[in-house]
Amino acid sequence: MAKLNINGSVRDVEAEPETPLLWVIREQVGLTGTKYGCGVAQCGACSVHINDDVQRSCSIRVGDLRATDRIVTIEGLSATSSHPVQKAWAAVDVPQCGYCQSGQIMAAAALLKRTPKPTDADIDAAMTNICRCGTYQRVRAAVRMAADDTSRT
Ligand code: FES
Ligand code: FES
Repeated sequence: MAKLNINGSVRDVEAEPETPLLWVIREQVGLTGTKYGCGVAQCGACSVHINDDVQRSCSIRVGDLRATDRIVTIEGLSATSSHPVQKAWAAVDVPQCGYCQSGQIMAAAALLKRTPKPTDADIDAAMTNICRCGTYQRVRAAVRMAADDTSRT
């Protein structure tokens, strides 16, 4: 049994300490926006925020988390899908199949929280998520658009 703070709610979850956070999020909590891609911290499909940093949840053990750690999934990024990154993603029409996109959005949101006006090099360094559909140019355009969104806090 572990206590996890996910999207602002503290939940009791039944999981062995070595269970990847990704499986708890998807199978126990039922938040399926966070995806399984590679399982080895390479693709970024499983990206969530932990204490405002982007992390690959397939490679985070439940036993290494505390109830005070703030875990945010794509479902918790904003109440109405109105986060500036989500708005930019829609405006640029970034997704193709969509599978990688929640992870891309979580990576972009963490980047802009840390670096509100990223350079192209900052974007390249932060956006390492893999997209089978090759949406990389639109991902970068949307990150730049979100960075220019003056309503962003
Ligand atoms: S599923 Fe976690 S990085 Fe690929
Ligand atoms: S949009 Fe299809 S994998 Fe990225």
